[in-house]
Amino acid sequence: MINHKQALALFGSPHKNGFTALVYNYFLERLTKYDIKKINAFESNFRPCVDCKICKKSNSCAFDDMNQFDPVFRSSSLLIIASPLYNFSFPAPLKAIIDRFQRYYCEKYYLKNELQKKTAVLILTCGRENNDKWIEIFKNQITVFLKSIDINLAHTICLKSTDNLKSGVDNLPQNVKMDINNIVKII
Ligand SMILES: Cc1cc2nc3c(=O)[nH]c(=O)nc-3n(C[C@H](O)[C@H](O)[C@H](O)COP(=O)(O)O)c2cc1C
Repeated sequence: MINHKQALALFGSPHKNGFTALVYNYFLERLTKYDIKKINAFESNFRPCVDCKICKKSNSCAFDDMNQFDPVFRSSSLLIIASPLYNFSFPAPLKAIIDRFQRYYCEKYYLKNELQKKTAVLILTCGRENNDKWIEIFKNQITVFLKSIDINLAHTICLKSTDNLKSGVDNLPQNVKMDINNIVKII
């Protein structure tokens, strides 16, 4: 079967078999309507943005390390960001990718190009249970950042309290599995 919709999945945990990977894989396995391109932030080693301002003047980036990423990003209607919470924010390699999205921000606001509208799903894991306030702040931060480049954060899948959780798909809480099964039906 040929899938027509494209998705870009950014994975931001250093652990290939950790909790973020558990939720990410469970979700992606069920997201059968999409052709998915996966990017592992810890393996890709993208350079951080240095605010050289080239993207304010032309539709380009000073660094060529994300050249293959750009067409995939542009052709994707769905963006998935999977991240553990590190000090109430993203792990550094994922934050580096997010800052490199500045070229799309500049494309919209300085070059006045229309960006393709996209939907996003956030997968978030965190060690502590009593984190709701910080998760909300983190989500708000991502919502505003994505909105600025015409991406709507439609769903968040959150796995809390991983400090107290055993690994393995059998230990993934029912509510998380249900959330995922509902989201893949409507997205
Ligand atoms: C550097 C670092 C910072 C962290 N900061 C937080 C935090 O602010 N709040 C929290 O609940 N857990 C925090 N954690 C715990 C991770 O979010 C949690 O263990 C996560 O589920 C790990 O996902 P993984 O198994 O994919 O690596 C932190 C862990 C590390 C290594």
